[in-house]
Amino acid sequence: MSRGGLFGKGGRFNGSVDPVMEKFNASISFDKRMWEEDLDGSITYARALVQMGVVNAEESEELIKGLNLVKVEWSEDKFELKDSDEDIHTANERRLTELIGPLGGKLHTGRSRNDQVATDTRLYVVKMEKQIINHLLDLLSAGCKLAKETKSILCPGYTHLQPAQPIRFGHWIMSHMSPVVRDVERLIELIPRANQCPLGCGALAGNAFSVDREFLASDLGFDGVLPNSLDAVCDRDFVVEFLFWHSMFLSHLSQFSEDVIIMNLKKEVIISDAYATGSSLMPQKKNPDALELLRGKAGMALGRAVGFTATLKGLPRAYNKDLQEDKKTLFESIDTTLDCVQIAAGVIGTMKVDEEKVGAGLCMEMLATDLADYLVRKGVPFRETHHISGAVVRLAEETGTNIGSLTLAQLQAVDARFEGDVMKVWNYEQSVERKNSTGGTSLKSVEDQIAKVEAFMAKIEEKFPSGN
Ligand code: ARG
Repeated sequence: MSRGGLFGKGGRFNGSVDPVMEKFNASISFDKRMWEEDLDGSITYARALVQMGVVNAEESEELIKGLNLVKVEWSEDKFELKDSDEDIHTANERRLTELIGPLGGKLHTGRSRNDQVATDTRLYVVKMEKQIINHLLDLLSAGCKLAKETKSILCPGYTHLQPAQPIRFGHWIMSHMSPVVRDVERLIELIPRANQCPLGCGALAGNAFSVDREFLASDLGFDGVLPNSLDAVCDRDFVVEFLFWHSMFLSHLSQFSEDVIIMNLKKEVIISDAYATGSSLMPQKKNPDALELLRGKAGMALGRAVGFTATLKGLPRAYNKDLQEDKKTLFESIDTTLDCVQIAAGVIGTMKVDEEKVGAGLCMEMLATDLADYLVRKGVPFRETHHISGAVVRLAEETGTNIGSLTLAQLQAVDARFEGDVMKVWNYEQSVERKNSTGGTSLKSVEDQIAKVEAFMAKIEEKFPSGN
């Protein structure tokens, strides 16, 4: 097989390439998804070539016209890949030259695939990060809606998977929205660092035709230029940052899923058929597959983040082909994130809560702390009341009942300071309403949480309007 592609080979090489090597080396199968970013970068570079004195204004127009024709082919799914197309950069330039002739050969003057691929990848990541932000807002909106619908439903809250204290269902769902708010904030913080322009750095040392890098950056919508050419072509921190971001985000969805899978055990929540599957053998089965997949995705996500960080470790300056490994990992992570965020929003948006079954999980022992607090309000130190309430729980256990069914006399036998009004403690609603400071589970606190998240969403939506 002859040496394919356009770049750096023609003159230097004349031997043939091992076909396995050709396949091994090529990235077109996955980097073709950056066709638009690649062409946008080239269009901007074609504009700069005039200022650099490499082409005249007409030639620049010709180049841009040709590049736009290539764009049309991609967008209409008519671009024909050739075996010799090693990557998206070679493919686009090959096609440009076929369309406009030898002038196409001037486009790459002073440019390298090293600054080109870094530019394309950054443009692509930033575009996708913005898209993901929009989907995260949909997820938050589904969460807030469910919280509003379920804010009056009481359910058990757990620690160590043991029934702990009663909470509002809406409080629970909002507990899974708080991390998503942080995920949105964190993702937004990644953008300004990713949105820095490497174009015009050449292979490693800079551009020999005095390209105006500030022009390239602003024409492409970057926030600024990377300050060092060696770093610019090999920096993949923005990839690592996204990978770790997605790993944390998916671990949040994983925790959410586990909670719902547990609630699904006793059908306290009903997952829409759209997100469940049956068994090929057992007709009665309705499995929460969507949630199990959401729970499972976090594992590989972390693997990708750690794996690519390990690839970067110990790399010498500047560009090395190891860096090509960034894209498969990155694209898989972006795709998985988009799938997961939409599935999670769908599950939440269609989930039904069975108030009775959820309520059945409540038990009087979950009010043992309220009993201790009752005596605290009568002036007894908490350390003492904790002990007294514990003794009441033990008494109920020993007499085969629950603490709410003990008589006043039985309670007074444990501590004489219990009075008739102690019976009012056995009220889940009251227990929940007492948790009325910021972030608590009282109705007002939950409503405040929802309002804050909605205000946050409105602010982000303004900065990142959907459909952009
Ligand atoms: N396909 C390559 C990548 O993804 C493009 C850069 C190639 N540069 C080079 N010097 N071989 O990294």
